[in-house]
Amino acid sequence: MIRTVRHFPLVLAFLLVLPAGLARAGQDPAIAASHPLAAEAGREALAKGGNAFDAAVAVAAALAVVEPYSSGLGGGGFFLLHRASDGFEVMVDGRETAPGRASVSLYLDSKGEPVPGATLNGPKAAAIPGTPAALVYLSRKYGKLPLAVSLDPAIGLAREGFRVDSRLAETARHHEGKLRAYYETARAFLRGGLPPRAGELWRQPELAATLEALAKVGHDGFYGGEVAAKLVESVQKAGGVWEAKDLEGYRVKERRPVKIAHRGALITTAPLPSSGGLTLAQALNILDALPGSCPVDAEGDHLVVEALRRAYEDRARFLGDADFVAIPGARLSSREYGHERARSIDRDRATPSRGPGETPKAGAQTTHFSIIDADGNRVAATLTLNTFFGSGFVAGDTGVLLNNEMDDFTLRPGVANVYGLEGSAANAIGPGKRPLSSMSPAFVEDQRGVLVLGTPGGSRIISMVLLAILEYRQGTDPEQVVARPRYHHQYLPDRLEVEPEGFAPEWTATMRGKGHEVRVAPRKWGNMQAVFQDKHTGKRVALNDPRGAVYTRY
Ligand code: DON
Repeated sequence: MIRTVRHFPLVLAFLLVLPAGLARAGQDPAIAASHPLAAEAGREALAKGGNAFDAAVAVAAALAVVEPYSSGLGGGGFFLLHRASDGFEVMVDGRETAPGRASVSLYLDSKGEPVPGATLNGPKAAAIPGTPAALVYLSRKYGKLPLAVSLDPAIGLAREGFRVDSRLAETARHHEGKLRAYYETARAFLRGGLPPRAGELWRQPELAATLEALAKVGHDGFYGGEVAAKLVESVQKAGGVWEAKDLEGYRVKERRPVKIAHRGALITTAPLPSSGGLTLAQALNILDALPGSCPVDAEGDHLVVEALRRAYEDRARFLGDADFVAIPGARLSSREYGHERARSIDRDRATPSRGPGETPKAGAQTTHFSIIDADGNRVAATLTLNTFFGSGFVAGDTGVLLNNEMDDFTLRPGVANVYGLEGSAANAIGPGKRPLSSMSPAFVEDQRGVLVLGTPGGSRIISMVLLAILEYRQGTDPEQVVARPRYHHQYLPDRLEVEPEGFAPEWTATMRGKGHEVRVAPRKWGNMQAVFQDKHTGKRVALNDPRGAVYTRY
C-alpha cells in the first residue's frame, strides 16, 4: 500500500531553505540534486562549515550510494567550479582513462567486426575510474573540511542503509538481467535473489568499507593498497585488461572552461574531453548570425535544429582527447566560424545529413547536481557510469560497480555508439586516453543573475543544455526552464526527435513541411538540476526537473 508519496524535489527545496533561515536574506545556499538524500548530504557538509566544494564531495559520494545505477566510485565526471573570493573558475576533470592495454581489437571478432555489446558489458567495457580521485582532489584543493567529514554522510548511508525509492526499485527491476550476469554484482545487488524493493532498508557494507578506505587514506585508498589490488585482480579474472599501474597512474586534470559570449550573456562550460563546450559554442555562434533564431515557434526551432545538426557534425568529425590529438578548438568555437556555418542554413528547408546513421540502441542514466553556497561559490557537476549500472560488473568485494565508458570511444568511423554517435580517429581508443563525453555542466550569467545547470542524457545532454540556455535568455521563469519540452538533433541519425508532450500538431507539421523527419519519442528525457541566483534580490532557488521526481512508497 502507498502510505506516503512524496514529491522529493519540492521537499528538497524546502529542506534546503530551512536550516539557513537565519542567514541574511538572499544569502541562503541552494543545492539541486537528483536524490534528496544526496542533497541532504551536501547540506550537512555546509552545516559543518564546509563550502560548495565540500558539499559537492558529499553530494557526489552520497549519489554513489543512493543512485548506484547512475554514478559512483567506479565512474567519472566533470566538476565545474567558480570560487567567489577571486572569481577563479576551473573544470576538475575526473573523466575515466583507457587502460594501458586497451585497444580496438578487444572489441572486434576474428573478422574484424565489432562484437555486439563488447564495449558495454563486463570489465572490458570499463575504463579507469576518475570519481574517487576527483573527490579527494576537490576536498584537498578547494574544500575547507577534512575529506572524512565530507564523506561521512555517504558512509553512513552505505553502512546503516537507506530506504529504497521508486526509481532505484524500478531501475533495478528493469535491469535485473544485468545485475545477475556476474556473481559479485548479484551478491551486491540482489537480496534473497531479488533486486531492491521500494521501502526496503538497503545496506551496502562493502561499498561502505571502500568509502572508508578513501576517507582514511585519500587517493591511495582507492588507487593503491588493498582496494586497487582487488579491483585489478577481479577485472583480470573476468577477462579485463586493467593493471596496477593504470590505477597508480590515474590523475585528475584541471582544465580551463570554455567561455561563450552570446547576445549579452556569458556561458561557462565544459572543455575537452567533453564535447559540450565546443559544440555549444558552435551552435550558439551559428544562432548569433541568424535573427529570429529563438526556440519560441517552429520557424525559430528550425534554425536551432539546423545549428545543432552542424555542431554535432563537427563534434563527430573533429573532437577527441586534446591531450593526445590536435583539435582545431579555437576555430570551431570562434564567432567567425559559426557565422560561416550559418550561411548554409536555409530557413525553409532542412539540410540533409550525410547518411541515415544508426538508431540509438539504449536509454541510459547519469546524474547532475548544482550548488551555490552562502558565499557564492558554485559547482556544476555531471557524473556517470555511462549506461544504467555501467558495465554491470562489481569488482570483487569492493562494492564498486564499474563504468562502461569505453563505449564513448569511436571503434571506427561509421560505427555508432550506444547513443548513435559516430566519430573519427580523434576519438579512437588509445592507452591513457579519455573518451569523448557530452556531459556539459554550465554557468550562465546575464543581467537576470546566474544559472548553474546540467543534466544527464548521453548525446542529448548538449541539446538539452542549449535549449535551457535559450529558454532562460527569453526571460522565462527558471522553474519553466528545466521543465520545458525538448527536441534533439545530432546530425546522425538524420532525425528530429521530440518529447511526447509539449509540441502542437501544427508545429510538427511545419517541421515536417521543411523536410525534417520528426520522430516522437516514447518518453521524455533528461533530469536537469539547476540553481538560479537572482541578481536583484540575491535569492537562490533549487530547480529540479519534474521528469526526475523520485517517489518513496513504503
Ligand atoms: O560522457 C558521456 O557523454 C556519457 N557517458 C554520459 C552518459 C549519460 O548521460 C547517460 N544518460 N542518459
